[in-house]
Amino acid sequence: MINGFRRKSLSRHREIRVPVALGAADDRLTLWASPGEYPVYDSYDYDYMAEDKVCESAYESALRAVSAGRTVLDIGTGRDLDWATLALEYGARHATAVEGMESTAVLARKTLEKSPYRDRLTLVRSWSTELETDRRFDLCVSEIIGSIGGSEGAAAALADAHARLLAPGGVMVPDRCVTMAGGICVRDIVPDLAFHPESLPYLDRIFASTGHPFDVRLLLSHPTPEALLTDHAPVETLEFAAGVTVEAVETAELTVHTAGRIDGLLLWINLWAHPQDPPIDALATETAWGTTYLPCFDEPVDVRPGDRLSVRLGRTLSDDGRHPDYHLRARLETVTGTHHGSFLSTHHGRVFRSNPLYEEIFSLR
Ligand SMILES: C[S@@+](CC[C@H](N)C(=O)[O-])C[C@H]1O[C@@H](n2cnc3c(N)ncnc32)[C@H](O)[C@@H]1O
Repeated sequence: MINGFRRKSLSRHREIRVPVALGAADDRLTLWASPGEYPVYDSYDYDYMAEDKVCESAYESALRAVSAGRTVLDIGTGRDLDWATLALEYGARHATAVEGMESTAVLARKTLEKSPYRDRLTLVRSWSTELETDRRFDLCVSEIIGSIGGSEGAAAALADAHARLLAPGGVMVPDRCVTMAGGICVRDIVPDLAFHPESLPYLDRIFASTGHPFDVRLLLSHPTPEALLTDHAPVETLEFAAGVTVEAVETAELTVHTAGRIDGLLLWINLWAHPQDPPIDALATETAWGTTYLPCFDEPVDVRPGDRLSVRLGRTLSDDGRHPDYHLRARLETVTGTHHGSFLSTHHGRVFRSNPLYEEIFSLR
């Protein structure tokens, strides 16, 4: 869920840079490379996620309701073993916390040594999909949700956990995640079509992790709902509790409500940690999740109220078997005619400078 937006010091931690999205003064819209779906997390990122009170309170509410007496699997426990610890605080019998990144697992081991729950908490350095165990858990908790809900690999990981690691009648936290989309024009709302300078170290680490440059997903720092020129609708639905569909195509029919121009889509998550609680809405609230911009028309298309935007978003597993590639197609019906657009947003494929927007962004790097 990291968005990489970083700025200045917080009082709770020394020398921590905090995200623009979490309340700093700069309200200019800026572009960032999306880091959450790559093994690039560092201590700043874990500090930053720990600052997200919206996420914390949603998970706290869910774990308070479901932890008592259960055995727990915490997938992607991070440096701080947060959700495993919270589940134990709320009466879980035992927690197994798994973390895939070696460098993070080393930090998590230090957290475990100081934990008052260390006799009931087991830490395993493993990606959940590679976890070898005969055990089945009563509760699976994770926060591996991306700025597009499934972009960090939640669908493949949690489908595997649901099928292989969850006991019959077991509970999944979060329950579900729906990614919404609406039409925007990034060229009209972002003053500079360039990566924010503080995003560049992330970009280098992402490209180092994949071994080559590519059209990395773009996050837009804290837009408001007024940026949308259309209504919005779901384009990715992940039902973790019911057993998630890893590869799928979803469609949405959007209607323009404000005259202007459209060149792409803004996407953001609605996340239900517990089915009966209200969702975290990453566009309506200040949270550590970013909002994603996917380009789809090479040139902005003029629109007026009543025009129709049809969207088709497919997700297929990339060749790492964990992260999805997204295939966007759009059709915009306006008085000037029908406009077709598309974009392939790969996790690590060799798609580089594939359209004028990325050409411009990377030429300014
Ligand atoms: C967004 S962070 C969340 C960390 C912490 N649970 C929190 O909520 O602050 C996601 C963490 O999960 C790890 N991770 C992602 N997918 C995983 C998987 N399938 N198995 C194990 N670890 C995973 C990442 O390395 C990262 O440390």
